Amino acid sequence: MANPNGGLDRVLVLEVARVTEAAAIAAARLCGRGNEKAADKAAVDAMRRELARVAIKGRVVIGEGEMDEAPMLYIGEEVGTGEGPDVDIAVDPLEGTTICAKAMPNALAVLAISERGGLLHAPDMYMDKIAIGPGYPPGIVDLDKSPAENLQALADAKGVPIGQITACILDRARHAELIKAVRDAGAAIRLIPDGDIAGVIWTTDSRETGIDIYMGSGGAPEGVLAAAALRCIGGQIQGRLLPANNEERERAATMGITDINRKFTLEEMASSDVIFAATGVTDGSLLDGVHFHDGAAETETVVMRSLTRTVRHIRTTVQDVETRFPA
Ligand code: FBP
Repeated sequence: MANPNGGLDRVLVLEVARVTEAAAIAAARLCGRGNEKAADKAAVDAMRRELARVAIKGRVVIGEGEMDEAPMLYIGEEVGTGEGPDVDIAVDPLEGTTICAKAMPNALAVLAISERGGLLHAPDMYMDKIAIGPGYPPGIVDLDKSPAENLQALADAKGVPIGQITACILDRARHAELIKAVRDAGAAIRLIPDGDIAGVIWTTDSRETGIDIYMGSGGAPEGVLAAAALRCIGGQIQGRLLPANNEERERAATMGITDINRKFTLEEMASSDVIFAATGVTDGSLLDGVHFHDGAAETETVVMRSLTRTVRHIRTTVQDVETRFPA
């Protein structure tokens, strides 16, 4: 599967869509059942099964955890048929386990694939993030600036008063100060219950979503996946790890991150050609979720490729879904 044009082979675009579709279908069966773990496990199992069919020598760099804590899709696990290009893979088989369990909007199955070494090996801990969409001068927002400074810079670049800027922030007690600072600066906030990969992606289409900037802390793995998406569609993101204790600091060091205060740019989190795919599990503003009817499942997937910046929305009808993807 050598690619004469460089970068990842474009055949992989369809392959990764199949993988996230399978994970989304598996998770969707368990939507609204109040069981996060079961929904997550179903998505992980399905994603792994489908990845095993893809002609790659894949290595999981962002997955379900370390080898001793996750039986499947653990960091370092080799996936794929073993024949094909060497690639790195970041997965979040069910992004928004709680929203899936509660059948709320915007749960996704997510995967990014890159050339070897193209994705930051981010440990599973919090990361402070700031992201905006494409079309702005580089560096206008920065984690080292105050929320008011960032919002003012963004408003100036957009040519609007701060009052017309909306930030997306995870609804968490730890964000109380940030939320106050954003409101005091005059901007509006869309608080989300979960799912900050979508939160970052929404900034890339502010006319449609009404969201101009993503701010606050969430999972570091989700930060890398969001960076992979922005590498394909444009935009800016910075992330800085927020280790909770020495153990997390040491874990970061064993993964190669010795300067814990380092501010990672988009290019450092997703440093080479990448393909990003997400399939909706529950209906949301990014994607429709899985709908089952007459023995079939309908899915919507977005697949993006950084080399060409192509963004595809794929609607798939899987017939005989119980036979093809048994629960
Ligand atoms: P899960 O699917 O693992 O539950 O993650 C959902 C999520 O909202 C992420 O999008 C986000 O990065 C992270 O959790 C935030 O963590 P916390 O819920 O601890 O604030």
